[in-house]
Amino acid sequence: ASKYRPFAPVGLKDRTWPDTVLGKPPIWCSVDLRDGNQALIEPMDIARKLRMFEALVDIGFKEIEVGFPSASQVEWDFVRKLIEEDRIPQDVTIQVLTQAREELIRRTFESLRGARRAIVHLYNATAPVMRRVVLGLDEDGIVQLASGQARLFKELAAQQPGTEWVFQYSPEMFSGTELPFAKRVVDAVTEVWQPTPQRKCIINLPSTVEHSTPNIFADMIEWMHRNLARRDSIVLSVHPHNDRGTGTAAGEFAVMAGADRLEGCLFGNGERTGNLDLVNVALNLYSQGVDPGLDFSDIDEIRRTVEHCNQIPVHPRHPYVGDLVYTSFSGSHQDAIKKAFAARKEGELWDMPYLPLDPKDLGRSYEAVIRVNSQSGKGGISYLLESEYGLELPRRLQIEFSQVVQGVMDASGKELTAPDLWELFEREYGLA
Ligand code: KIV
Ligand code: ZN
Repeated sequence: ASKYRPFAPVGLKDRTWPDTVLGKPPIWCSVDLRDGNQALIEPMDIARKLRMFEALVDIGFKEIEVGFPSASQVEWDFVRKLIEEDRIPQDVTIQVLTQAREELIRRTFESLRGARRAIVHLYNATAPVMRRVVLGLDEDGIVQLASGQARLFKELAAQQPGTEWVFQYSPEMFSGTELPFAKRVVDAVTEVWQPTPQRKCIINLPSTVEHSTPNIFADMIEWMHRNLARRDSIVLSVHPHNDRGTGTAAGEFAVMAGADRLEGCLFGNGERTGNLDLVNVALNLYSQGVDPGLDFSDIDEIRRTVEHCNQIPVHPRHPYVGDLVYTSFSGSHQDAIKKAFAARKEGELWDMPYLPLDPKDLGRSYEAVIRVNSQSGKGGISYLLESEYGLELPRRLQIEFSQVVQGVMDASGKELTAPDLWELFEREYGLA
């Protein structure tokens, strides 16, 4: 049983809970090795790609977009390495991306020769600005392009019957596309693929650029969910970006609106402001009592791997993982946390002020929770002396010593660690 309780606000009578919270995890798909990688100043080499792939497998991802094999030699070589060296676990499916161009599609299928199972991901842009300015095609032209390349997918898959093929289609810039037209293109593709409830295809709806508040994106997903042909034969996937800083919310709302699957990157890497942050969504679920099916029990190790592979640091205030997110600077926060830890009984539901989840669950420790700087009060000082040195100060001494500490910090402007406090205490009270 989870130690976290599903969130249900008291007082909102016109809503049915928990229907409007996420009650189960989506199907997860990591695109770290593709969307994440294409957004790096220096894209990953094969060694870094492999390290990221293995970390994603260890976390528990079952669908991993590993690259764009027709785009570069490294991408091609990496896909070949995974297949030829038998590095893909039985329960993991690799996914590769291709643009809707015949020579690229042929090369993509070639790169997957010998794979046990693979998701082949076809995309073309559908938004008016891309039709007009980039592709020079009208609506009929886009429908023909997508359905023609979908047909080629079927032909090439039939030529490699040893692989179990899953087809995926993305109307790129879905978030800027007229809904009836997006439906028309997607329906044309599924008309070609003829998926069944037993053999589904994936339709992936990206907010290639995030244009709206997340509820609007979710409304668009709900419209597609209700109106697409062959809905029971489709895994409805979404691929939010984060241009307005609301990628996480967009993904969560989209799942509540009918999506089955989420694509994103660890810690929100990806083009521009990044993709949906998979860690955020997974741990948001976790902290509300829903097992995300992904293992972040050693989140610092995952962070080190991701920082090494991406060569991008994770922000100290990044939800769940940043250096500072289990640190409380204010005296009133420290005091409340100290009291809640003292009152907490084994096996109780988590109900801690200022700590949305137990840092221990992610391999982080309580030691980092309370630090002492010029913003903090006596609670934090006595907590550190007691937890680190077993020194229980009487209340009068707590007040007296906190004034000494305050004087030192006011003069230096620096934070004091537990050993600093111990040394000061020894000096002040002549124990040294
Ligand atoms: O953001 C996007 O539209 C993409 C597509 C290729 C799916 O990454
Ligand atoms: Zn993307």
